[in-house]
Amino acid sequence: MRIRRSLIDLDDLTAEELAYIFERTGQFEREPPGPLLAGKACVNMFFEESTRTFTSFHLAELQLGANVVDLVPKNLSLATKGESLEDTAITLGALGICVLVVRHSEPGFPQRMALAFDGHVINAGDGVHAHPTQALLDIYTLIEEFGELRGRTVAIVGDVLHSRVAHSTIRGLSRLGASIVLVGPEAFLPSTYAGGQVSVERDLDAVLPNADAVVLLRIQRERFVEIPISDREYIDRFRLDRRRLALLRKEAIIMHPGPYNRGVELDDSVLEFAGWRYARQVQHGVAVRMAVLDLLVNARQ
Ligand code: ASP
Ligand code: CP
Repeated sequence: MRIRRSLIDLDDLTAEELAYIFERTGQFEREPPGPLLAGKACVNMFFEESTRTFTSFHLAELQLGANVVDLVPKNLSLATKGESLEDTAITLGALGICVLVVRHSEPGFPQRMALAFDGHVINAGDGVHAHPTQALLDIYTLIEEFGELRGRTVAIVGDVLHSRVAHSTIRGLSRLGASIVLVGPEAFLPSTYAGGQVSVERDLDAVLPNADAVVLLRIQRERFVEIPISDREYIDRFRLDRRRLALLRKEAIIMHPGPYNRGVELDDSVLEFAGWRYARQVQHGVAVRMAVLDLLVNARQ
């Protein structure tokens, strides 16, 4: 279900709104915006750990002149006093909160919040479901590099099944006409992902020479009990290392949503590769999130 005032996943955005976000991101990076959220209150509720998303949302809100409250989950009455999610949303609405930024390990938690809250909810990552602002900043990084994405090939490598970033990025890239090649072991990448512009491959060495961009994923160990593949096998088949870097085109780029685990999905040679764009992705995070806040609060009616 699409809740117009909120951003739960990229499907919530029309093509015009996607274009608006990317245009505003560029503007905000060239020239810091004025206080577009002056007098508005934003609450950041991160029930799961975060370094990049939390910090960049907080900075984005401050730069837009908002009043910012960071709620510590264990201090919420929701945690210990039996208050429901819905009643928490009603309470925050009564306090005049304009935007809730929510991260939670349960898929659908931000959506439920959005249904009960009389303001804007932004999904900052919910379980294996979606992480729309990360996908937006990743796609913005690709557009900055290549311009038009139609006809470009993006390989996404690793634990696709448990990656909310991959799920949102696949949705976004499909809409923009890119070809998406998913690479990973069966346990992290069922063949059912294939369809439309998305193909599933098992042999990373065969995929690398044709990729314009490679997006590496962390194994989301917190999302399953039994690790379905040994570290040795994973490294042998899927780690990007010096030998595999040599298979890439000279102008190919490598991305990672972070946090990356050195020695698992990549080795140190990747961090020295000319096309390693991780820092660029992180840098875009603040402006992309300012653009999303501006869209929801000021532009969408
Ligand atoms: N930080 C991203 C997320 O929260 C990706 C990851 O944790 O691997 O989904
Ligand atoms: N990419 C990302 O969501 O990072 P954090 O988990 O540190 O926010």
